[in-house]
Amino acid sequence: MQTIKQVPGHLLLGNLSDFRKDSMEFLSRIAETESPVVRFRLLHMDCYLLNSLEGVNHVLVQNHKNYYKGGLPFKVAKEILGNGLPMADFENWKKRRKIMNPVFHKKALDGYAGLMQQYALRYLDKWSRHTGVVDIAPDVFNMTMEIGTDVLFGKAMSQEEKTRLIALEKRLIATFVARVQAGFSLPLAVPTAKNREARKLIREVDAVTYKYLQSRLDGPDDGEVNMLDLLLMARDEDNNQTLNVAEIMDEVRIFTVAAVDTSAATLSWLLYYSAANPDCERKARQELRQVAGDRPVGFEDLPKLRYINNMIQETMRLAPPAWLFSRSSLDADVIGGCPIPKGANLLISPYNMQNSPRYWPAPETFNPDRFDALTETQKSAYFPFGEGPRKCIGYRFAMMEIAILYSVILQRYAWTMAPGYVPEKDITKSLLLPKNGLPVTLKHLEVGELRS
Ligand code: HEM
Repeated sequence: MQTIKQVPGHLLLGNLSDFRKDSMEFLSRIAETESPVVRFRLLHMDCYLLNSLEGVNHVLVQNHKNYYKGGLPFKVAKEILGNGLPMADFENWKKRRKIMNPVFHKKALDGYAGLMQQYALRYLDKWSRHTGVVDIAPDVFNMTMEIGTDVLFGKAMSQEEKTRLIALEKRLIATFVARVQAGFSLPLAVPTAKNREARKLIREVDAVTYKYLQSRLDGPDDGEVNMLDLLLMARDEDNNQTLNVAEIMDEVRIFTVAAVDTSAATLSWLLYYSAANPDCERKARQELRQVAGDRPVGFEDLPKLRYINNMIQETMRLAPPAWLFSRSSLDADVIGGCPIPKGANLLISPYNMQNSPRYWPAPETFNPDRFDALTETQKSAYFPFGEGPRKCIGYRFAMMEIAILYSVILQRYAWTMAPGYVPEKDITKSLLLPKNGLPVTLKHLEVGELRS
């Protein structure tokens, strides 16, 4: 058996101070060792950082049944965001994932592409009114939020109700983030003022969703099929099992965090890397010109946008929104020769693996071309959507949305970052976001300017 490298720390606090100060920097620093697992302590809790590709593969793929989603973020997430697919435990997850898979298959995605494109066009018209330096990060978030809500509920939900739901969902995310940041909060059942407020919020979100679901179950067939209709209709072909209304309501509650925040973060980083790397942006414009000219990009164009796809992948290598995730061990195990006890808290950092000089030459350089020729090792060291059976169910959806939105923006705008902008990383809201927003100067392109 190999001895696990232990990070030295304070007698009582362990490594809490360093971890709290900057957990990303701390985890990158302690990973600079050959040890396949690195152990550190937060007060009384031992944490095990996986530091080899074999170890990551073992936990996420080979022996995934021994590792469940546990620890504080999941406890808080389950209370506030419900027991949707990302949080579900094994048996429940297996049943749901099988039923839900077809909702994210290619055929379904085709239908969402047009909607994304129309939304982007409508939204971006507003940008032509901006003058001087403007922070477009809130717009990027709102655009993905509105697209997400539209894809989910379709035209069958009134604009007024969508706006209300979006406001509620934003408050729900803020409540989740505040509770994770606090590190400790009393269980939701304890009637503190904050808990009562959180419970009221959850009831409100569920009430809007429930009313809508009932109207779709009872209502006349209007010919529209949105994502929620697909979830209502979805069934396991082997045993005919379906999702019940309560299960679908759980999926709606988690949707904004899983689907909207992550995509908005990626698009924000992509807009930054694009502006910071004019040569890459030029190639992207050239590709777009050849594939679509001035017309909006459609589903069928996406496989041809190879360079843009590489740019998105490279963005997610440097700045994976889900930069860290965790698992707990059901039973004792051995990883890379290191003993892992039962109930251990394991941390997996795509950020570490995707930025390590062990696997990536010049890791800090934005180089989309590297995705034309990834080695097998690099393929295993790249997992912004996770890996194994719990890999993101929405990854095709996300890649499509980001490619469409970026293309529509490229076709209509040129942008430069505000002078002196430094792309600092913000992890305080659990995802990896640009710290100071996206302050840019925009130039509206007339039709045909894309050609220049
Ligand atoms: C750039 C955008 C996205 C990123 C970076 C991302 C990242 C991830 C990651 C890393 C996981 C696995 C977490 C783990 O293993 O603990 C995951 C799971 C998941 N994601 Fe995404 N995601 C994105 C977009 C989406 C979208 C658009 C949807 C839905 C439309 C979605 C729905 C889900 C769901 C439901 C799961 C749980 C899957 C399961 O446990 O079976 N995600 N995502």
